[in-house]
Amino acid sequence: MKDLTRRMTHFVLAMAFAGFTTGSAIVAQVPLRTLLVGVDHRKAVSLNGPWHYLVEQPPARELYDEKGNIRDNGYALNTHPNISSGPHNSEYDFSTAPTMKIPGDWNTQDPTLFRFEGVVWFQRDFEFQPAPATRTFFHVGAANYRSVVWLNGKRLCNHEGGFTPYDCDATSLLKPGNNFVVIAVDSTRHQDDIPSVSYDWFNYGGITRDVSLVTVPSEFIDDYDVHLKHGASFSAGDANTVSGYVHVEGAGEGRSVAVRIPEANASTTAVTDATGKATFEVKVNGLQLWNPGSPKLYKVELQAGTDTLTDDIGFRDIRVDGTRILLNGKAIALQGANMHAEAPVRGGRTSTDEDVKNVFSMLHQIHANFVRLAHYPHDERMVRQADREGLMVWSEIPLWQRISFSKQEVYDKAVVMLHEMIRRDRNRAAIIFWSVSNETPNNADRTRFLTALANEARHEDQTRLITSALIGPRVSEDRIVQDDPLMEALDVVGQNQYIGWYEGTAEDADRKTWVLPQKPFIMSEFGAEAKFGNHGGPHDRWTEEQQVNVLQHQFAMIRKIPQMRGVTPWVLMDFRSSTRNIPRLQDGYNRKGLFSEKMEKKMSVPLVVKTYTEDPAVKPE
Ligand code: GCU
Repeated sequence: MKDLTRRMTHFVLAMAFAGFTTGSAIVAQVPLRTLLVGVDHRKAVSLNGPWHYLVEQPPARELYDEKGNIRDNGYALNTHPNISSGPHNSEYDFSTAPTMKIPGDWNTQDPTLFRFEGVVWFQRDFEFQPAPATRTFFHVGAANYRSVVWLNGKRLCNHEGGFTPYDCDATSLLKPGNNFVVIAVDSTRHQDDIPSVSYDWFNYGGITRDVSLVTVPSEFIDDYDVHLKHGASFSAGDANTVSGYVHVEGAGEGRSVAVRIPEANASTTAVTDATGKATFEVKVNGLQLWNPGSPKLYKVELQAGTDTLTDDIGFRDIRVDGTRILLNGKAIALQGANMHAEAPVRGGRTSTDEDVKNVFSMLHQIHANFVRLAHYPHDERMVRQADREGLMVWSEIPLWQRISFSKQEVYDKAVVMLHEMIRRDRNRAAIIFWSVSNETPNNADRTRFLTALANEARHEDQTRLITSALIGPRVSEDRIVQDDPLMEALDVVGQNQYIGWYEGTAEDADRKTWVLPQKPFIMSEFGAEAKFGNHGGPHDRWTEEQQVNVLQHQFAMIRKIPQMRGVTPWVLMDFRSSTRNIPRLQDGYNRKGLFSEKMEKKMSVPLVVKTYTEDPAVKPE
């Protein structure tokens, strides 16, 4: 926690310096006191459902004043116009405004907002009865991109970043009975944002994940890490120690904490230090380790004072040994696909159990044991399901291609996003990789920035592997030497390339020799566009046959690369992208999916199934 605050303070300082008006304003995120780990396993009052909304076009003067600072006396006050006699407020009224479903992006709910990037205001009333000796947090699973929250007309907090959660202590602003909340969400893009101004996915705006009120005792567990002890080496014999920490918010030194794993007859207690952190180790006999074949999750009970929390946690060991990736000491090969957080069939941002079920049905159809959640942390439901179903996960923060790598304040922002990603999901056994970026330009600023970020991730979590997806060197030569200096900072290297689509012909892949360092590699992106139902010969671009041809030659090329330990074709399902505008072929979709956006199976699916089940493209060792 201390770390988070130290970094946050640093972050605000920098942003204050950079705060100025460009188009819609850029506002610094005020540091958040905490982020509740395991929030989806806590009793909570859901605020999901219909919320009123009002749209504000640039320059969004109800949100930003002339200087670009947040206004607290605009729509945030939720007043009502005196229709009959006037005077009016600034002429708005949430109570008679239309509603849309939260969680949910605005683009797929209101046709007039399909391509809208800007500010949308949300408001709802709710009943609440404060309980003595408790604190109540306002939890937002995610809101894209910047969001500001007011409770009963008072500013509560603000957040930057569209794919990670935030929690704001609402205790002092809540009152018995009727309360109201107003949230302004601004999806406007800015150069120094993460991601920056251009990216190949649809900029869905809004409150895209669950919203709730979480009440906890005044002293409560806000962060914990429970994992299989990660020693210098792994042997199944000594996989019998669970270690970690529990942080008790509001507690100083000497607070007793209990950790119990009833099913494994294991329990221990520990005592908090001056920062409220209690570290522990407990011997657990006969611990069944989590792996894709048997994704064993244990109920882990945590208790501190009157606060108790139970989480479902799997225990596994992941590490590298030369060019091998070892899961519980055994070399593994990763076969799966990339996926955006887009809901199959209905479209829009993934936010329901049904969406997740659909995604997993496609992953199962291709016999995947691994998924790369591109290019940002997905809904918590996805990683929980991966935990339950035994699917290994690559999780990434959206440092996609061109980011302002020379700017300290952008680095500080990246650190906050990294911490939010790790903090939310650090107890998910399924997640084996933290990725710090995708396809970034190989220059000194970038390498310095991402090397520091990779080390930050390693500092924050020594039990997982750090990776990143590289693009380049040019694949036009038949001998491809990967010498990107960023690899130094990575445990596992992701390699993106599009031989047969953006570069050359499918058959060119047959002549390629990859010269790679002795590290485990994942061919993290490769593929070709094909419109479902569009047929022709193996060289007729945009046809399913051509996509099959490209993937066939790709798998053959990958099979020859000894360091390759994983494959994730780009992409499991066609997805919306506002940069894909060839009529009748793309119509606003990136068509490199193995499935269409309606989950229709393209001809590549049987090829991938055959490869993953009978003729793997990658070997464990
Ligand atoms: C890139 C990028 C993806 C993108 C893909 C494509 O490699 O990482 O985000 O969608 O290529 O061009 O289809």
